[in-house]
Amino acid sequence: MSDRYETIRTQLEARGQSHVLGGWSALNAEQRSNLLDQIDALPWNEIDHAWKMVQAAPGPEDSSSELEPPELCMPDMAMRDNLRSLGEEWIAAGRVAAFTVAGGQGTRLGWNGPKGTYPATPVSGKPLFACFAEQLLATSRRYGIEVPWYILTSPENDAATRNFFLDNKCFGLERNSIMLCMQGTMPVFEQGTGRLMLSSPDRIATSPDGHGGSLSALQRSGALADMEVRGVDVISYAQVDNPLARMIDPVFIGLHADESVSSAEATSKMVEKTDPAERVGVFARREGRLGVVEYSDLTSAESESAGPDGRLRFHAGNIAIHLLGRSFVERIVGEGQSGLPWHRAIKAMSYWDPDAQRMVDPESPNVLKVERFIFDVLRHAERSAVLAVDRAVEFAPIKNAEGQDSPETSRRLQSDLHGLWLEECGVDMPRDDQGHVDASVEISPLTAMQPDDLHRNDLPSHVDRGASLLL
Ligand code: UD1
Repeated sequence: MSDRYETIRTQLEARGQSHVLGGWSALNAEQRSNLLDQIDALPWNEIDHAWKMVQAAPGPEDSSSELEPPELCMPDMAMRDNLRSLGEEWIAAGRVAAFTVAGGQGTRLGWNGPKGTYPATPVSGKPLFACFAEQLLATSRRYGIEVPWYILTSPENDAATRNFFLDNKCFGLERNSIMLCMQGTMPVFEQGTGRLMLSSPDRIATSPDGHGGSLSALQRSGALADMEVRGVDVISYAQVDNPLARMIDPVFIGLHADESVSSAEATSKMVEKTDPAERVGVFARREGRLGVVEYSDLTSAESESAGPDGRLRFHAGNIAIHLLGRSFVERIVGEGQSGLPWHRAIKAMSYWDPDAQRMVDPESPNVLKVERFIFDVLRHAERSAVLAVDRAVEFAPIKNAEGQDSPETSRRLQSDLHGLWLEECGVDMPRDDQGHVDASVEISPLTAMQPDDLHRNDLPSHVDRGASLLL
């Protein structure tokens, strides 16, 4: 042990990180060996690279190159029909898999568990994972195939997520069509110095490496190889926090498959951003390459500027729904994800201070966490299309306990959408003075994934004000 300790201590000293051994003398044998194992397993080159990169990254105000709005795809009915047929061919041939990034906990929501277990729907309170599972069941039945479903978890929630699926009998899906992939972590840096933080005397603090880390997680877990065996070419990516995210959308898949507009590497959806303060990233071109600029990285001039039509100049809001080619992902991972930058987030975090030999609760932000973002792959695609979709149909995120993007706003959006579907089928629907459906309405994907799937004869002629209706 002492040889190993000496070797590691020398290496840490050379890196200016020997303070992580500051609690050594009080550790027992097991704690010592765990700490050395953790240090040995850290990706040191990546850590050095990430720290240098976030130091050098320009802030929003000093980015040298100009942003340009991207061109958007707004297909008319005829084009939609063509895209749908092409997409349906790919789906029926089993070429599409679903991928949900669900590494987060529901902490911001005050929920003690994986975010995917959060009750999301307005009437039955169905968990987010169940909303997606039902969509996949409905898709499998419609096309007579199994759609494999890959789910990104984190070390924090992997076991709880697995148990949730087992307890719920995988919501009726084939167990071997669901695969959890655990994302990686990166150490947490002290802001300003780059020293690694400790969460206890025997543990270096770590945090998830961002949804950009999902690509290497797909490879490490064997999911990419599994896709190859199954003949999957397209990975349909969405975040766990949006119950209206369409897991397998034929029109969108058709666009990705359409060689005239796409290199079948990365295709995305956008909704119109109308409020400059809305916390959504926007699609934009920089130096000709398409990407997403995160809301926190836009200057106020950029987020507020209006185009000639009076709309926001950067109005292509990112709803975090992308189609990624499997071979494209293999290429990015094969290059060590070297083309994906590290982003920084400055946070307040309690830590064990090796100088004072005690835990410290900081009064202000003290640490820097690094993350990779999935949308940074877009700039590596040769030809990438962005499909404009209707916010009311596809975007009802649940992020905050209250206010915007909360369970309450999401449930109202879901009721508004499903109430509208019923109205389109001739049902008389109560509305309040702001135009919202004045009832709780929930339609399971197993009943209908679009208004055309509803059978008029099975529907009520009207819905009472304040009623709850589950179909
Ligand atoms: C995100 C997008 C933003 C977009 C908005 C739409 C980023 C950085 N920003 O913002 O451009 O407009 O969604 O709703 O993504 N996750 C993991 N592992 C991680 C980090 C995140 O699985 O290491 C998952 C979370 O479970 C969550 C999702 O990624 O479902 C989004 O992450 P979050 O950091 O909450 O981003 P937003 O601020 O919501």
